[in-house]
Amino acid sequence: MIKQEKILITGANGQLGSVLAKRLQEKHGVNNVVATDIVADEDFVGNFEILDVLDFERLKSIVIQNEITQIYHLAAILSASGEKHPKRTWDINTKTFFNVLDVSVIQNVNKLFFPSSIAVYGANAPKINTPQSYELTPTTVYGISKVAGENWAKYYFDNYDLDIRSVRYPGVIGHQTLPGGGTTDYAVDIFYKAINETNFECFLSKNTTLPMIYMDDAIRATIELMDAPKKSISIRTSYNIAGMSFSPEELTYAIQKIYPNFKTLYKPDFRQKIASCWPSSIDDSVAKKDWNWNPLFGIDEMTKIMIEELKLKQQTKLQKT
Ligand code: SER
Repeated sequence: MIKQEKILITGANGQLGSVLAKRLQEKHGVNNVVATDIVADEDFVGNFEILDVLDFERLKSIVIQNEITQIYHLAAILSASGEKHPKRTWDINTKTFFNVLDVSVIQNVNKLFFPSSIAVYGANAPKINTPQSYELTPTTVYGISKVAGENWAKYYFDNYDLDIRSVRYPGVIGHQTLPGGGTTDYAVDIFYKAINETNFECFLSKNTTLPMIYMDDAIRATIELMDAPKKSISIRTSYNIAGMSFSPEELTYAIQKIYPNFKTLYKPDFRQKIASCWPSSIDDSVAKKDWNWNPLFGIDEMTKIMIEELKLKQQTKLQKT
């Protein structure tokens, strides 16, 4: 008989965590998922524990009590927020990861998921179709912590046989929860302005093309990688995955197909420097070959769904008030 997996998610209130938690509940059963975050989420349906992942003893006791077999470690500080407190970001992003790595080894957790990012690349990497393997010279503390994390992931796999798997997420776009503190967040914020038919002020310049991915693709990539047979995983640092690539101007054009009067004004700030060092598009051929990765959403489908879903959410909220 196949043993029932027991899942722990850190950062479960976040943009990805909140959607992943629901998807994992559907897959493994509500009672087999323990969502955790540093603050409570009153609306969460299922098992929820308050957890600061810096607190190793509390993490360990949650893992023991719930007989956890898989961990998805999503708690982290993102690129733009991270630059405001570089050392604190380094401490939080790396110490929490070590706690998760160590608890996994000590408690025999079967599988661990670690999110990496396009932020691992620096300005020297080829911008178009950035290859899986290239010198990693990140310019943000977030990126530095992800490169270190990728290497520690491989170290724990090589030395402790910990089955840790990872993808480098592009900017994630979803309607469920707002992202917080990222450089790609504009591509979510813009839709809230579009549905209210107001102009959007963009903190990146109009031609800053970045790799992006629609939430459904990002979640499916995560689950498919975790489900892939161990022998097919050739990358133990982190896999490049691509969804779509566009600039703020191209996203504005896509929105104008639905709202012709919609306008974006460009006021680049400190985040422009971060974005300018990142790839414009990603070569994900290794993920395609190893575990059949295949993105399904392009800019127009994504734009249509984002607008429909956010409008629906707004109407439902209005009806409740
Ligand atoms: N979306 C992230 C950020 O902008 C990159 O992984 O920080």
